[in-house]
Formats: sequence, structure tokens, C-alpha cells
Amino acid sequence: MTTSRHLSALLAVVVLAVTACSEVRKLTYPGDITYIDRSQVTGAMRQMADAVARLERAIREAPSADRVDQAAVVGDLKTLEALASSLRAKKGYTTDPVLDKHMSSFLDDVALAREQAEQQPPNYFLAGHIAGSCAACHRFR
Ligand code: HEC
Repeated sequence: MTTSRHLSALLAVVVLAVTACSEVRKLTYPGDITYIDRSQVTGAMRQMADAVARLERAIREAPSADRVDQAAVVGDLKTLEALASSLRAKKGYTTDPVLDKHMSSFLDDVALAREQAEQQPPNYFLAGHIAGSCAACHRFR
């Protein structure tokens, strides 16, 4: 073999090895998996806990139902929707089966709570009990 043959054989091996690596990556995380790591989950969860605490306080500390800061409660419910949505698969599924299985029913609960809180006059019953929907998923983790 000439030196140039050696070189092209070596090049072929390198190209194969690189291709093989990207194939393995594809098998591990194909396009329909959204990779969500622990710190992303715990970060969003802590912000959700803050939003729930804030809206519960707004409802509890108002002297009467018609004095609740409606915009603040609705805003916190929208924050919850955005944070929970950030933990959902873009398509297919995520790397966390518990989130996949239970996040959409949590989002349904939050959407309903928001719709009722947005009504005139507002109804804060579901908003005030949204922590129960957090617990519904936490039972499975
Ligand atoms: C669809 C499932 C699901 C829902 C809904 C959910 N959680 Fe979680 N939560 C998890 C998972 C999974 C973890 C991470 C568990 C782990 O690995 O420690 C977690 C962790 C947490 C943590 C711990 C974060 C840390 O610092 O370790 C808090 C606090 C939390 N959730 C609050 C909430 C609150 C408040 C809500 C409702 C607004 C909520 N969660 C709704 C699944 C859920």
C-alpha cells in the first residue's frame, strides 16, 4: 500500500467512527424525545411553588372575595401554565415518564382555574385549590 492509500483507509475509519457516534446519539435521544434534566425540573418546580404560594396569599389575605387582586391571581396562573408547559415534550415524549403521564391533566386543571378566575365576577375556588393538582402528580414521583 502506498502512503496515500494508508491515509485514505485511515480517513475512512475516522469517517465511519464519527458516523457511528452520531447514530448512537440518535438511538439514545431521537428527534421526538425532549431531553429534560433534573435541574430544569427542580428549577421550574420551585418557581411554580412560589407562584402557588403568592396566589394563595392573594386570595386568603383579601378582606373579601371582591377585593382579591384578580390580575395578580390570573397572572400567577398564567405563570404556572408557562412553567408547566416548559416541562412538556415539544413532540413525542420527554426523558421523564412521570411528567409525560401527568403534566397534561395538571395543565387542564390550571386552565380551568384560570378561566374561572378570569370570569366577571371571578370564581377563585379552583385557583385556591390548585396545590391539590400539584399533589396529584407528586404522588407518583
Ligand atoms: C406532572 C407532574 C408534576 C406536577 C404537576 C408538579 N410536580 Fe413538582 N415535581 C415533579 C417531579 C418529577 C419533581 C422532581 C422529583 C425529583 O427528582 O426530586 C418535582 C419536584 C418538586 C419540588 C422540589 C424541587 C426541588 O428543589 O427539588 C417542588 C417544590 C415541587 N415539585 C413543587 C410543585 C408545585 C408547587 C406544583 C404545582 C404548582 C408541582 N410541583 C406540580 C412532578 C410534578
